[in-house]
Amino acid sequence: MNPLRTVGARLSLALLGVVALVLGLVYLIVVPSLKSRLVDARLNDLAHARTALKAEFKAQPNDPDFFSNAAASTNARVVLLSVVSQSPTLVTPLQSSLPGRSANPYTNDPIATRSARTSQLERGTVSRSDGEFAEVAIPMPKRGEVLLLAAPLHDALADVRAVQRRLLLAGGLALLVALAVGYSAARLFARRIRRLERAADRIAGGHFDQQVADRGSDELGELARAFERMRTRLAGLDHARREFVANASHELRTPLFSLGGFLELLEDEELDESTLREFLDTMTGQVRRLTKLADDLLDLSKLDAGRLHMETQPVDLASLAGAAVDEFAGVARASEHPLEFASNGAATARGDPQRVFQIVRILLENALVHTPPGTPVEVSVRRTDGQAEITVTDAGPGISGEDRAELFERFYRGESTKASGSGLGLAIAKELAELMGGRIELDSKPGRTVFALVLPGGEPTRELEPGREPVAV
Ligand SMILES: Nc1ncnc2c1ncn2[C@@H]1O[C@H](COP(=O)(O)OP(=O)(O)O)[C@@H](O)[C@H]1O
Ligand SMILES: [Mg+2]
Repeated sequence: MNPLRTVGARLSLALLGVVALVLGLVYLIVVPSLKSRLVDARLNDLAHARTALKAEFKAQPNDPDFFSNAAASTNARVVLLSVVSQSPTLVTPLQSSLPGRSANPYTNDPIATRSARTSQLERGTVSRSDGEFAEVAIPMPKRGEVLLLAAPLHDALADVRAVQRRLLLAGGLALLVALAVGYSAARLFARRIRRLERAADRIAGGHFDQQVADRGSDELGELARAFERMRTRLAGLDHARREFVANASHELRTPLFSLGGFLELLEDEELDESTLREFLDTMTGQVRRLTKLADDLLDLSKLDAGRLHMETQPVDLASLAGAAVDEFAGVARASEHPLEFASNGAATARGDPQRVFQIVRILLENALVHTPPGTPVEVSVRRTDGQAEITVTDAGPGISGEDRAELFERFYRGESTKASGSGLGLAIAKELAELMGGRIELDSKPGRTVFALVLPGGEPTRELEPGREPVAV
């Protein structure tokens, strides 16, 4: 990366820019105003002296010491000039506090000329070969005469220059400090950002073992904590994915392995009719198991991808329960389970009829498979406040507390139950129920296990019993 494009370099440059701008502004505001204040103060001093000087001059116009005394009291050069021509106005020195002819440069002095023209006190600064001067020109009582006071400004200007120098020095120091502070702060930030970048790369590379740590309480610290949350979530998902693939392949291998074995046995031509029949029945069972597993896996993948299409319509739970009981009547008889539908009124839910049926099938199959022969199983429906439920109750041994915690996990099969299924049924049922805005409730004790599919209530059906309140959604 271009070193000037790093956050650190940009921060340092920004800080440097701000400090330079502030110093520049201070310099531009302070120096000229300081200079004009000093010059004004000098001009005011000179202007103040005018009344006394005029009075003194009037009292003794020919006093030879007037100019040197005035120069000493005002701390300025004192020159008396007179007009030699009116238009254009030209003035020339008559007498001065300066020795010999050194007042000559004051011929046509701009301030004195202006005062001669306006007959008023004039003030201003003039640059001469020997420096800059604050000048005040005072019109004298005698027509055409102007008294000029010229005070050298080098002391005031030296003060200004000293302030200027100090400001520049302080500015330089401030810039250095800004650079150092900016650079070290930026380095600190850059180091933390780079650490986060490395963590993101690690996570992108599928390495979820190392924590993302940053103890800061600022935005970077927040970002690091968000990264850490992402890491733990991804680690969990990755673990679940690996487990899923391992479990699914194991589930697929078992029936395939068994089918392979039977195929080898079938090659033995000496098999009698009844053994052959038995083998084919077992193989059909395995193929059915594989097909069911494939269907379940497909459903799960659709659930994961959020691609499972759900209808939302009124579902008459009573007729659905009746149909399910009819469907399982044969299986129940074969496994010696008394199965019945305890019709106790109507209940309408909102959901997808196909998916509700799928869930009832899963619950019914479990009640028939995971309970010993002779155990009665009952299906019933019921309406509660704004909800409709369909329950499958069996009189089996019940589900232990340990099992209950994990029952709805994918591929989880109870320890005590015979391993007939793949352990996907309840996981699918739970996710489908939740997609319809419902849930699956479990209440189990030895001798009585109740699985209830609770769904949002729908509009009441026509077969509503008299006296029962319709449930509105
Ligand atoms: N009615 C029930 N009575 C006792 N145990 C049950 C019942 N329903 C489910 N189970 C337990 O829950 C486990 C998970 O059920 P499920 O997800 O349908 O998987 P599978 O039926 O394929 O084993 C079962 O293995 C079983 O131990
Ligand atoms: Mg099952």
